[in-house]
Amino acid sequence: MGLLSRIQDKTQTQQEQPTSSGSEQKQPQPEGMDSAYESLTKQIVRPTEAKKNSIIPKANDKHRELKGLLHKQVLHELKGDTDIDTIVPKIDGMAMELIKEDETFRGTIDRKRIVDELINDLTGFGPINPLLLDEDVSEVMVNGPNRVYCERKGKIVLTNISFRDNEHVMSVIEKIVAPIGRRIDESSPMVDARLPDGSRVNAIIPPLALNGPTITIRKFSKDPFTIDNLVQFGTLTKEMAIFLDACVKARLNIFVSGGTGSGKTTTLNVLSNFIPNDERIVTIEDAAELQLGQDHVVSLESRPPNIEGKGAISIRDLVRNSLRMRPDRVVIGEVRGAEALDMLQAMNTGHDGSLATGHSNSPRDMISRLETMVLLAGVDLPVKAIREQISGAIDVIIQQSRLKDGSRRIVKITEVQGLEGDVIVLQDVFSYEQSGIDDNGKVIGKLVPTGVRPKFYERLENSGIHIPASVFIGDEDWN
Ligand SMILES: Nc1ncnc2c1ncn2[C@@H]1O[C@H](COP(=O)(O)OP(=O)(O)OP(=O)(O)O)[C@@H](O)[C@H]1O
Ligand SMILES: [Mg+2]
Repeated sequence: MGLLSRIQDKTQTQQEQPTSSGSEQKQPQPEGMDSAYESLTKQIVRPTEAKKNSIIPKANDKHRELKGLLHKQVLHELKGDTDIDTIVPKIDGMAMELIKEDETFRGTIDRKRIVDELINDLTGFGPINPLLLDEDVSEVMVNGPNRVYCERKGKIVLTNISFRDNEHVMSVIEKIVAPIGRRIDESSPMVDARLPDGSRVNAIIPPLALNGPTITIRKFSKDPFTIDNLVQFGTLTKEMAIFLDACVKARLNIFVSGGTGSGKTTTLNVLSNFIPNDERIVTIEDAAELQLGQDHVVSLESRPPNIEGKGAISIRDLVRNSLRMRPDRVVIGEVRGAEALDMLQAMNTGHDGSLATGHSNSPRDMISRLETMVLLAGVDLPVKAIREQISGAIDVIIQQSRLKDGSRRIVKITEVQGLEGDVIVLQDVFSYEQSGIDDNGKVIGKLVPTGVRPKFYERLENSGIHIPASVFIGDEDWN
C-alpha cells in the first residue's frame, strides 16, 4: 500500500476520552499534629522544579496528506541528517514548495506544526513526543498504531494520537532500544529499556502482541512526589507520615508491598528521603527510578544479559556486592526472587534500617511470597527457619493499593511482631476503612489508627525518637 493511500485509510482522529471514572479524593485531615509534621517536611530535600507543558496535536486529512508527502521527500533528500539547525529550514522550504504546487493545501494547513511533527519523527520519539514532554502525563501506552493511551493525573485517557502504521511504531521502538545496545525483532520480541531522561520502557511486538507493536512507558518524574503531596492526595495521613518517619529514623526494616502501579516506588522514594543526610545509602534497582536528596548515595542498577545471553548482573548479585560497600542503609527497588534470602540475612545480621518493595496483595500475602522467594534461592531451609528469618528481619509492612477510582492509598501499616509456633504474628497499626462508593465512582473511606501501639514503640523511645501517643489513637471527629 502506498504512503498516500495509507494516509487516506486512517481513521478519523478522536478526542481524549476518560476511560476510568472518579475524581481526586479529599481526605479529611486531623488537627493538632501540624508542628511535628511541619518539621518533618522541612528536612526533606526537594528536587528541582519541573517546567514545560505541551499540547496533543489533532490532525485533519489534508494535514496528514501533506505530512506524508513531506516525510517521503525528507527521507529521500536529507538521507539521515538529523542536525536540527540545518534540517528545520530545509523541511520548511520543502513544505512551502508542496503547498505552492497543490492549492488544496492552502488555508487548511498549519505548516509550522507539520514541520514540528516531522522533526519529532526524525529526532525524537515520533507522535508520542508531546506526551513525553507533557509534565501532567505519567504513563504512555501505545497499543498498536491507532490506540495511544496516557495516564493523566491518575486517570487513563485515550489520546487523539496515532502512528501511520505498525512500521512507524517499530521505528520508534528501535530508536529507543538501539542506543542502549538492545534489539527487537521476531527472535527477541520483548525488550526493557530506558529513555535518556530515565523513563522506564517496555516494548513487545507481534506475534506476541496481537494488536500491533505495544509500548509502555513509565515516565521518570523530574519532580517526584513528596510526603506533602502524598498527604494532600490522601495516600496517607499526617499521623502515618510522622509514624513512618520515626520508623525510618529508628532504623526499622520496612517493606512496601502492593500491586502493579500501586505507588510502591513512589512511597519507597518518600521513605528513603527520611534517612538522615549523614548516612551512606546504597540503592539497588532494575531501572534506576529512586531520586534521593541526600549527599551520600550510591545507585546500582542490574543488567540484563546481552544478545549472546551473557553478562547478566542480577539484583541478587548487587545485594551481595552492596554488603561489601559499607552501607548504612540498603534500599532495594523491588525484591522478586532469590535476592530475598540475601536481603533477609543482611537485615538479620546488622544491616538494619533497610527498605524494599515487593509485589503482593496484603501483608500476609507478602510474607508467604517472601517464603517462596527464599526457596528460589535454592537453599534447603525448613519452612520454620525461613519464617524465623522473615519475622526476625522485617519490622513493618506498608500495604499500598490503587483503588477503583484511580487513587493510590496506603491501606495498611502492619507490624511484624514475631513468630508464635509456626505462625508469623502480624498486627495492623493503621488501616483504611472503606465505607462505600459515591455517585461519581469516588471511593469513600478513611485511614485510621487501630488503637494498638506497636511492640517496637519502646525501641523508638530508646533511640530518642518520640511519637505523640495521639498518633495511635483514632479520633472520631475526623470525618
Ligand atoms: N500516592 C500517589 N498518589 C497518586 N499517584 C501516585 C501515587 N503514587 C504513585 N503515583 C503515580 O502512580 C504511578 C505508579 O507509581 P509507582 O511507580 O510508584 O508504582 P509502583 O507500584 O512502583 O509500580 P510498578 O509495580 O510498575 O513498579 C506513577 O505514575 C506515579 O506518579
Ligand atoms: Mg515500582
